[in-house]
Amino acid sequence: MNVFVTGATGNLGQAVVEALKTKNIDVKAGARHPERLADGIKAVRFDYEDPTTFASALDEVQGVFLQAPSMESAAPEIMKPFIDQAKLAGIQHIVLNSALGVDANEAAPLRVVERMLMETGIAYTILRPNFFMENFSIGFIAPMIAHSGAFFLAADDAKTSFISVKDIASVVATSFAEGLTGKAFNLTGSRALDRQEVASIISEAAGKPIAYNAIPEEAMLEGARANGMPEGAVQYMAGLYQAVRNGWTEATTSDVEAVTGSAPITFEAFAKENAGLWK
Ligand SMILES: NC(=O)c1ccc[n+]([C@@H]2O[C@H](COP(=O)([O-])OP(=O)(O)OC[C@H]3O[C@@H](n4cnc5c(N)ncnc54)[C@H](OP(=O)(O)O)[C@@H]3O)[C@@H](O)[C@H]2O)c1
Repeated sequence: MNVFVTGATGNLGQAVVEALKTKNIDVKAGARHPERLADGIKAVRFDYEDPTTFASALDEVQGVFLQAPSMESAAPEIMKPFIDQAKLAGIQHIVLNSALGVDANEAAPLRVVERMLMETGIAYTILRPNFFMENFSIGFIAPMIAHSGAFFLAADDAKTSFISVKDIASVVATSFAEGLTGKAFNLTGSRALDRQEVASIISEAAGKPIAYNAIPEEAMLEGARANGMPEGAVQYMAGLYQAVRNGWTEATTSDVEAVTGSAPITFEAFAKENAGLWK
């Protein structure tokens, strides 16, 4: 099987490329700047907002790993032309990365994308992961830790069952390899942690103190704006952290183990593996 991977330069996209290779699935990686992808990967330029990039993305592939640009409230409008084109190209299986909890709100952008995919008639698998552990190592929290030895979030003392992108990627690869279609999986780690506990685990792994500072929502949003985040993404982020403070990211599921046969990576193991990034 050949699979086209959207967002292949992203945190999750890179892990998906690696996981597909371990299942001997041929990968074509898509990115707006394919030159940023590692050597040895078959890559094409791909931009949801440039339909001239769709034909080479969909040529000679049977599967597509679909993910939205991060924190994009216009995801349905941006992704629809490509999903329509995938249908016309005869794609046989799409694995969509959505997000935990969106099925509780029919108006949530990623829920609208889920519905759009289901209505195409293409065989699908929907993955709804919780917050990524990698937000702390290579994602948006990493620069805060590097800059000030602390991270600042409007999460109070709420708990979240963080998941590693490696586990999500394993579920993606198994979904394609075993044809797990017509299913939705809610993907979490096996334990919920508050962010003080996360800070302790990272401090222990890094061998130096890294603090969590709970801040008010407005301070977090102002900080994001000051770092150049577009207003649409700022509002999206506000919704995400409201969900965290409401306790909606605390539950755990057994879906990772049920699909892959392995328990999810613990935060301690993730921190040990990435300790060098925080030293
Ligand atoms: N981070 C989390 O905790 C979390 C939790 C649940 C769900 N999610 C969802 O998981 C997905 C991946 O998250 P992530 O943290 O891995 O994000 P990320 O590192 O920012 O990756 C997003 C990818 O989207 C690509 N992209 C952006 N605009 C694009 C466009 N117009 N056309 C094509 N590709 C475009 C980017 O590639 P280029 O810029 O190189 O083109 C990048 O590779 C997102 O949909 C996010 O909403 C994230």
